[in-house]
Amino acid sequence: MNIIRVKDVEQSAEKALEIYQNAVQHGAKVLGLATGSTPIPLYQKLATSQIDFSELVSINLDEYLGLDGEDEQSYRYFMTKHLFQYKPFKHSYVPDGKSEDHEAAIKAYDRIIAEHPIDLQLLGIGRNGHIGFNEPGTPFDSTTHIVNLTQSTVAANARFFEKESDVPTQAISMGIASVMSAKKILLIATGESKAEAVAATINGPITEDVPASILQKHSDVTIIIDEAAASKL
Ligand code: F6R
Repeated sequence: MNIIRVKDVEQSAEKALEIYQNAVQHGAKVLGLATGSTPIPLYQKLATSQIDFSELVSINLDEYLGLDGEDEQSYRYFMTKHLFQYKPFKHSYVPDGKSEDHEAAIKAYDRIIAEHPIDLQLLGIGRNGHIGFNEPGTPFDSTTHIVNLTQSTVAANARFFEKESDVPTQAISMGIASVMSAKKILLIATGESKAEAVAATINGPITEDVPASILQKHSDVTIIIDEAAASKL
């Protein structure tokens, strides 16, 4: 694992921007993207950068079940708001949270990932070590699947909703094997609340109880951590 320690959120976004510039210059064609608070500073930088994504494909990690892309709380909407409206891709895939047939949506997403191998996968990390919406206990060999969100994840995500009871309790997420199939992985962790998960990911045993710990087995992972997130290392 290549660990890059930075001072704060601003520096984490600057470092991540360099990694994106480098990846695209070196021919990356498919970018795996994440939502949540962590990547927003990076997306702001990408939005005003010189990078041209118009010939690239993006594939997002996850989407809430029951929300369509027009819904302001959906991850499709989030991506449009923070990145796609400024930097359109040739095609941007986000799992279909509104499909009538979940099995078909899952198969379709696995096919998309197989047809567009991810060159650089961006990850945030949950306080419990989740990646994508792969909560503790998710099998390491999982591909796209429907997830029941844990109470702690629902509570953590409630800040984006009017009230906690509005947070969907299920999501469709790329699996851990799908994430691990990316050629390169970039995980960004900032803030004190991530310190324990970061320590368990980097120094702990590789266990399904800490989904991100599987990253120890990937051959090309970079983790950018600020001082607060590094405080338990
Ligand atoms: C969202 C996702 C999640 C988040 C994680 C951290 O697409 O993949 O795993 O990265 O929940 O969220 P924030 O960045 O809001 O702390």
